[in-house]
Amino acid sequence: MQFAHLHFDHIPVVLAPMEDVTDLAFRLICKRHGADIVYTEFVSSEALIRDIRGAINKMRILDEERPIGIQIYGNKVESMVQAARIVEQAEPDLLDINYGCPSKHVAGSGAGSGLLKTPELMEAITRGVIDAVNLPVTAKTRLGWCDGQINIVEIARMLERCGIQVLTIHGRTRSQKFKGQANWELIGTAKQAVQIPIIGNGDVVSPENARTLLDVAGVDGVMIGRGAYGRPWIFKQTKHFLQHGEILPDPELAERVEVLFEHLALSIQFKGERRSALEMGKHYGNYLKGVRNVKHLKAALRSLSSYDEIHSTITRFIRQFGIEEIEAPPTLPEPLLQGV
Ligand SMILES: Cc1cc2nc3c(=O)[nH]c(=O)nc-3n(C[C@H](O)[C@H](O)[C@H](O)COP(=O)(O)O)c2cc1C
Repeated sequence: MQFAHLHFDHIPVVLAPMEDVTDLAFRLICKRHGADIVYTEFVSSEALIRDIRGAINKMRILDEERPIGIQIYGNKVESMVQAARIVEQAEPDLLDINYGCPSKHVAGSGAGSGLLKTPELMEAITRGVIDAVNLPVTAKTRLGWCDGQINIVEIARMLERCGIQVLTIHGRTRSQKFKGQANWELIGTAKQAVQIPIIGNGDVVSPENARTLLDVAGVDGVMIGRGAYGRPWIFKQTKHFLQHGEILPDPELAERVEVLFEHLALSIQFKGERRSALEMGKHYGNYLKGVRNVKHLKAALRSLSSYDEIHSTITRFIRQFGIEEIEAPPTLPEPLLQGV
């Protein structure tokens, strides 16, 4: 399977870009558990060209994550062209353009999925970005603006003509946001209309879902977003199922907690203890889903900010389930890329 210059000997399973989720630590964890390609969260082209630190930091990547795509969004050709040149200096493997974000702030200003309503501007941005860089350019979009305006076939054909090398399609319209069921059949209709590789996305939360999406839509790759929350091993499980038809069991609680600690340690390495403690709050519950009394643990963790305190609180909590030993970094390694 050829994705731009990247070759895979199996159907690639890709980590979706997700704002405030797919930071460096989460991407590394997913990579270590089998993700074939990872994407940064979207980065504002306007913020990049104004050299805003938060935006620049979102582009910091490590070799261990490769292949990685940096995703940008915007509603002006010139800003997107300039931003693409800035992205090129960060040396990702792919540059991805966001034509899918449904939020009022982004789509409402004519960027993200807002561009589905102005295909001429989408085309001008796409051509501008592709001409500006030597990187392979990919795009991610939705089926259309709303049920009455589904234009994914025209959009996919236009993006292919422009030179987009891989297209990811989230099987929802902008109006649906994240509600309802992703329509995999319509992803398949678009796949039939073009030659470039298509990655199918939306509602894949199990290896079996990935198989069905591939069967229904005939796509070349599968992208997983929310299904990887607290379950980064879903990438390995999915690839194993697609290749061998066998479901690998979910890890036991002790292993899940090990991965949680690894994720926390990475997050602290990149962002420092205080910020990580705040940001990791959303991940604890996902790693410990279904565990008795986890509500109390989450409440207790909310007031903690040091790795040692968090480590010992979680270690104490899981003793009630007979788990005494956790293989986890007892102390933190040296900080890396502080301030990301
Ligand atoms: C919290 C969150 C943030 C997201 N941020 C982005 C983003 O920055 N760029 C993007 O292209 N899509 C973004 N998405 C959409 C996902 O990439 C994906 O298309 C969507 O969640 C459907 O896939 P899933 O059902 O596997 O989660 C985001 C989704 C979520 C839930």
